[in-house]
Amino acid sequence: MNPRKILVTAALPYANGPIHLGHLVEYIQTDIWARFQRLRGHEVLFVCADDTHGTAIMLRAQKEGRSEEEVIAESSEAHQRDFAGFGVSFDNYGSTHSEENRKLCGEIWQTIRDAGLVKSKEIEQLFDAEKGTFLADRFVTGTCPKCGKTDQAGDNCECGHTYAPVELIDPISALSGTKPEVRNANHLFIELEQLREFLTDWTQNGDSLQPEVANYIKGQFLGDDLRDWDISRPAQYFGFEIPDSPGDYWYVWFDAPIGYMASTQQWCEKNGQKLDDWWKNPDCEVHHFIGKDIIYFHTLFWPGMLKTAGYNLPTKVRIHGFLTVDGEKMSKRKGTFVKAETYLKHLDPAALRYFYASKLGPRLDDIDLNLEEFQAKVDTDLVNKVVNLASRCAKFLKPTGLSAQWPDDGGLFKQAADSADEIAQAYEDCDYNKAMRLILAAADRANPFIENAAPWVLKKEEDKAQELQDVCTVAINLFRQLAIFLAPVLPDLAEKTGELLGDPITSWDQAQTPLLGTPINKFKHMMKRIDPKDIAKMTEETKADQDAEASAGAMSELAAKYNDSPQHLIDKPLTEECTFDDFIKVDLRVARVLQASHVEGADKLLQLTLGLGGDEQRNVFAGIKSAYDPADLEGRLVVMVANLKPRKMRFGMSEGMVCAAGGPEATEIYLLDPDNGAQPGQRVT
Ligand code: 2FM
Ligand code: ZN
Repeated sequence: MNPRKILVTAALPYANGPIHLGHLVEYIQTDIWARFQRLRGHEVLFVCADDTHGTAIMLRAQKEGRSEEEVIAESSEAHQRDFAGFGVSFDNYGSTHSEENRKLCGEIWQTIRDAGLVKSKEIEQLFDAEKGTFLADRFVTGTCPKCGKTDQAGDNCECGHTYAPVELIDPISALSGTKPEVRNANHLFIELEQLREFLTDWTQNGDSLQPEVANYIKGQFLGDDLRDWDISRPAQYFGFEIPDSPGDYWYVWFDAPIGYMASTQQWCEKNGQKLDDWWKNPDCEVHHFIGKDIIYFHTLFWPGMLKTAGYNLPTKVRIHGFLTVDGEKMSKRKGTFVKAETYLKHLDPAALRYFYASKLGPRLDDIDLNLEEFQAKVDTDLVNKVVNLASRCAKFLKPTGLSAQWPDDGGLFKQAADSADEIAQAYEDCDYNKAMRLILAAADRANPFIENAAPWVLKKEEDKAQELQDVCTVAINLFRQLAIFLAPVLPDLAEKTGELLGDPITSWDQAQTPLLGTPINKFKHMMKRIDPKDIAKMTEETKADQDAEASAGAMSELAAKYNDSPQHLIDKPLTEECTFDDFIKVDLRVARVLQASHVEGADKLLQLTLGLGGDEQRNVFAGIKSAYDPADLEGRLVVMVANLKPRKMRFGMSEGMVCAAGGPEATEIYLLDPDNGAQPGQRVT
């Protein structure tokens, strides 16, 4: 078999949220495929990246008072940690916010311009003046222009009517709660219709798509003119500015798939290879794994872009369904919206890898994670039927090692070896469900052999040493075959098997030849049964997380009404906590400004005579000159620290301090204003 050169991608996760079990269907599916191809001896490059651009990240950064770069760096770290936790073996993990990506976007854009596919059109869009940004459909609600129902989404109503956000009656911006304005903006569009012939041929006559996907595209899109693709967004937008259209940014879906190439480019730079050897090489296959929600982008726009720019077209776009949990959409309330991080705290990643593999077929059906079935399946299949083969027999071989000759096994080893091609084909076709069934069928044949031979009985009989060694040699080799077949799904099990037998699993073909006459290492634990308590803990933690998020969300809704910037707290974080006793030592009092004057020779100070009622007075030098005129202060009430030990200053004694809020600018000084009925001398606590 000639080695193939295969580039594999999984969809780039958005940088604005954590990885959850729904995402993992795809990353595990793709990783199994990539590992399978490596095991077959092919040259595989598996790349991914964070998808970083767009309005959502920009708004989150604003809300958190951080730069977008900070948000995406944090996200990238968390995503990579989670993927590693599940054994997802990317060769490179990049970011769409990289120089490699910017450069490739520019080059591809130029080819699209040169091909005459770009046109400019003025469109009406809703603009949130308070936030200074145009509003994507999902950030607008309003009254349906057809049936008059209030509080409907930006692009469609419960009554089934669809519309443009500008048609909504009484639109409201979800970002600020204000009424957005209609503004005209110039957008750049790619005229997809010009690529109709190519796209029809590629989607309908090739074998890059699953048949149901080709049909869906035909029915959904090809019947009409292909809509122009709105490819630019005016500022403010977090993304790459379009070089020949200053002030406009590429829409996130333009630069996201180019991120596949940018990540390849990064890997090439680290490994002394060339991008074109992967992306412009007719001998290189490109396999994209995606979910069914992003078919349009990957089967029309993306091939259109690649074709125009002269790059390889996808060999296959492999599309999977969604995850449901216990038969329903993942739900935060029910604790089924489980984050990767939470799962990893309580359960073994191998269990989920196996369970997903056992569910995944070549079609777009959704897969269900029923938690009871999950537990039962992992326990029965992996622990009882696979790992048990090794755990029951390995110890008996410790003193002797494996038999030197292959004993009579009733044809079991050969039968499993002969199923290798069918299992391989199932992996190749992403029919992992079938692959797992075939592998488990081999395990089901192996187990009765051990039961009947009963090595634990042979062990007790003195003259059965050879038989014991032979039976266990068969058992361990049948187990090893299973570990090889399962290696794409359970890389840790394969590794431990390699360690046990002193012979690492590196090739699919190892399943054809038994190991004989070699020593065996001490059996170490490989996989344990799932404790239902751990599943419950995971679900409970997810619910608790969700409750915490909900109350934080409620708070931020409250705060959103006022939209106060977090910047001051960021610039000057709160000081160390103090006790009530500490606080009460500071005697704050309402005082009246009896007199205010400039201080000769002082740039910043005013001299204040503050009255606390009766004849009680304090002389205070306050650094408020840049913001206040003495004439405006006289007669005003202020809050002062009245028991501050007098300090000698250059201009005289200062007998207290006036309380004021202040920002970084000299003019940003705001005296507190207790003029609401408070009287001089009253204590402020
Ligand atoms: O749907 C999504 O989660 C996108 N972030 C996927 C992008 S895939 C590729 F085109 F970049
Ligand atoms: Zn309606």
